[in-house]
Parts: sequence; C-alpha cells; structure tokens
Amino acid sequence: MKRLVYRSQPFGFGRAMLAGILLDSRRNNRRDEITGALICRHDLYLQLIEGHASEIDALYSRINVDDRHGEVRLLLTDTVSERLFPRWDMLDDEAPSLFWSPAEVADGAVESTAPVELTRIFARLSANTAARKEHSGYA
Ligand SMILES: Cc1cc2nc3c(=O)[nH]c(=O)nc-3n(C[C@H](O)[C@H](O)[C@H](O)COP(=O)(O)O)c2cc1C
Repeated sequence: MKRLVYRSQPFGFGRAMLAGILLDSRRNNRRDEITGALICRHDLYLQLIEGHASEIDALYSRINVDDRHGEVRLLLTDTVSERLFPRWDMLDDEAPSLFWSPAEVADGAVESTAPVELTRIFARLSANTAARKEHSGYA
C-alpha cells in the first residue's frame, strides 16, 4: 500500500467549501478503498491519503489540479503494510491551534518538517480519534 502526505494553500477557506470537499472525498474514497485524514486551517491543508498505489496516484493527480487550493507540495510517500486511518474514509481535523503559527507556515515550516515527524503528527491524530466511530472505512 502507498501512503502520501502533501500540503497546500486553501483558496477561500470556509465551512461550505470544506463540507463539499469532504462529501466528494468520502464518496470516492469508499469506492477506491482510500482512507486518510485532512488537517485544515485557513492557511493550510495537510492531508494524508493511503491505499492501493494506483488509486493514490490517481487521486493525487486529481487533487493537484483542483482549483479549491493551490501550491500543492508533496511532502512524503511511503510503502506501508498498515493503514494509519483504517476506519476513516477521510477524517477531518480542524487543526487545534496546530503545531505551527501562521507566520511559520508562511515561512515554509511545513515543508521543512522531516517525514518521520509528519508521520508522527498523523499517528497522534489517529490515536486521539480512535474512539470516534463515524465514517468507518476499512478496519
Ligand atoms: C484539500 C483537498 C482534499 C481532497 N481530498 C480528496 C480525497 O481524499 N478524495 C477524493 O476523491 N477527492 C478529494 N479532493 C477532491 C479532488 O480534488 C477532486 O475534486 C475529486 O476527487 C473529483 O471527484 P469527482 O470525479 O467525483 O468529481 C480533495 C480536494 C481538496 C481541495
């Protein structure tokens, strides 16, 4: 299986847009056996997607040309045997005052975060939401 993390810059971030993205994502991801998490904030999307390599590549190509965000930057790809978000078609997390300040994000803090640390961020998120049951995916 393939795991991929990227970051991007939302265009016109708001609840309605986020709800639309999540609706599309959950419908498609269930079909494509993709799971993951989308951390979002007015100045940042940070998303982890995991699944069969061909489906992940196809999704990342669609995401790259989506005009609801820009400056899409690949941060890590990995081959993994287990999912971090087996129960989630797409977990959404409104970055609880997050690890980086807006100024740090603007300065490239996300891009300079080591892949192992990025994986830890999502592993912590996964552990913190283990009790939430909705949107179950592929446990
Ligand atoms: C930040 C962000 C995250 C997204 N995540 C997903 C996703 O996990 N799965 C998905 O199918 N589409 C996702 N999309 C939407 C895709 O870019 C694309 O619009 C969608 O897959 C096309 O679906 P459709 O062919 O059903 O219209 C995301 C878009 C944005 C802006």
